Amino acid sequence: MSADDLPATEIEAAAELKRLAAEIARHDRAYHQLAAPEISDAEYDALVRRNAAIEARFPALVRADSPSRRVGGAVAEGFAKVRHRLPMLSLDNAFDAADVEEFAARIRRFLGLDAAETIPMVAEPKIDGLSISLRYEGGTFVQGATRGDGAEGEDVTANLRTLADLPPTLVDAPAVLEVRGEVYMTKADFLALNRRQEAAGDKPFANPRNAAAGSLRQLDSRVTATRPLSLFAYALGEVSAPVADSHRHLLRRLEGWGFKVNPLARPVASVEEALAVWQDIGENRARLPYDIDGVVYKVDRFDWQGRLGFKDRSPRWAIAHKFPAEQARTRLKAIEIQVGRTGALTPVAHLEPVNVGGVVVSRATLHNEDEVGRKDVRVGDTVVVQRAGDVIPQIVAVVAEKRPPDSVPFVFPDTCPVCGSHAARPEGEVIRRCTGGLTCPAQAMERLRHFVGRVAFDIEGVGEKNVVFLWEKGYVHGPADLFRLEDEDRSRLQKLANFEGWGKRSTDKLFAAIRARARIGLERFVYALGIRQVGEATARRLARHYGSLSALDAAMAAAADRESEAWAELTSIEDIGPVVAGDIVDFFAEAHNRTAVADLVAAMAALGGGVEDAAAPTASTSPVAGKAVVFTGTLTAMTRQEAKARAESLGAKVVGSVSKKTDYVVVGADAGSKAAEAARLGVTVLSEAEWLALTG
Ligand code: IVH
Repeated sequence: MSADDLPATEIEAAAELKRLAAEIARHDRAYHQLAAPEISDAEYDALVRRNAAIEARFPALVRADSPSRRVGGAVAEGFAKVRHRLPMLSLDNAFDAADVEEFAARIRRFLGLDAAETIPMVAEPKIDGLSISLRYEGGTFVQGATRGDGAEGEDVTANLRTLADLPPTLVDAPAVLEVRGEVYMTKADFLALNRRQEAAGDKPFANPRNAAAGSLRQLDSRVTATRPLSLFAYALGEVSAPVADSHRHLLRRLEGWGFKVNPLARPVASVEEALAVWQDIGENRARLPYDIDGVVYKVDRFDWQGRLGFKDRSPRWAIAHKFPAEQARTRLKAIEIQVGRTGALTPVAHLEPVNVGGVVVSRATLHNEDEVGRKDVRVGDTVVVQRAGDVIPQIVAVVAEKRPPDSVPFVFPDTCPVCGSHAARPEGEVIRRCTGGLTCPAQAMERLRHFVGRVAFDIEGVGEKNVVFLWEKGYVHGPADLFRLEDEDRSRLQKLANFEGWGKRSTDKLFAAIRARARIGLERFVYALGIRQVGEATARRLARHYGSLSALDAAMAAAADRESEAWAELTSIEDIGPVVAGDIVDFFAEAHNRTAVADLVAAMAALGGGVEDAAAPTASTSPVAGKAVVFTGTLTAMTRQEAKARAESLGAKVVGSVSKKTDYVVVGADAGSKAAEAARLGVTVLSEAEWLALTG
């Protein structure tokens, strides 16, 4: 900006500073509070710079409400985070009657019920909305939160207060009561809202679920108040005293407190009855005033629910029986080969956009090379696309009659479309992989995406688009670079700010989000490394088993020798067999992975962060927390599976084989070689009764 552009007189300058202060304040509000910016970051920055330039020329005119006086870079952070006292879980899915039978059979096995014993359940619609947790203290609604990642959600209390279906006070409720349920929008309300949106020139929502989510996550609750949101209550979170002894009883209590409970919930005494309810609700689905995507079956008795407990992210006592997917036909325009984090080549179909059950679909997965061959999917074909719940749309079949006469079979490439390296497909595997490793930009970029993802480092503001941007501009080539992005002289910031869409506010927000994640738990850290076959559950087991990054690192180095005790220990961890163990050990054995991990830890430490040791799941007051336990033989008070689950919930590590590191071997009737091995190694052997006495 040249000096000539600046106002010449004090009167002009004062007038412009006044105008700028008001304008910038208005944009701040639009951006931070309404989440609806009217101008680009670059335009915003230009206003701030002009304000600063005028102030530099006329220092005496700096206003009390000048934008330059407001705390530099202070960013309204959107919603506050809420840590759920009890995690908000998801549900396992059943897709057919056999899955439901298996669900019931699993419960029987777990509880040790015999085949004749019935499992009373409640069947109720699975509402397609978003789950929320409502906290009441002393009978007053004090806090409401979204599910978030299940452990931590967003505080949307003010917005929830605008819902007519939410009772602000409860009569005769325990001191602490968390009610969980689903916020949704009816089909009619959704259509009316979209008509209003369009009339106002705003973007319409894709479906009622998105509309509900968008409305609940408004930073200004006055906006939420204009949105027609509804609520069904269906479960409990933390409670200071029991409120019911069964699910059906709970539903009645919820109703008594003034919550809406789904009117289609029905008690069922058997799998057959459950399936009949599913059939019935499914047939009437289109006539319901709101979207549902299945029927949830819940074990009715709370004492049984308590014994069944949870695995990973879902309860053992409930399952969602999904409705068949919705389908539509459309034309396949192209097949793109994408390269994933582990180099896997995945064919993706680009489609003529088509509405599938209320959602516009323009891409679908074709899974792998064999799948394309088996279905003989060709560019130009008319295909049947299906969508099931949250699953990525899939191509089910080709409509043969509609195939153009000149179509040719699709030839799957044997080179990586991104880096040109050979793409190999080992004997017996279905996946073809690029052999370029970290030199392949696609793989490096996908690893970064995985790294910043929600279950991993969860760096807010570094989404898909930004990872590509930061990578392509050369700012970030690996995870550690993220933590060095904000270097001391902030020169990178200036560089970044030269790009469209990256103003000071965006970069400040980004840096704050990165700094906030420089300290992270071992579970997330291990998951974020993107080791093949190490998903969330395996990462958690590794973290809890080894406790710290240094212990894990040392153990993996030792386990490289497959004859070692370290290898035996690794493969004794629940669900880690030799194949997965091999992938984990290989990861840590590779030099560039070791360097990358060390580099990452150093970059995090430079920001004052680090990797936090994994805590045992429950307080260390449990006498078995951190102990390695082996169960063997037939138990009488509970099944072996239930015993293991209980031990894990007390913080014990349940392992499969006895070694010198085992703390206890619990022997039931007819215990075999493991009991003998324990005696040989001098490991403490407990009877079932002794174990029960120890764990209370
Ligand atoms: S029970 C511990 N009941 O489905 C399980 N969930 O896929 C608590 N949902 O996150 C959930 N209708 O958002 C339950 N009648 C219902 C439901 C329901 C919809 C949602 C809920 C949950 C998701 C799991």
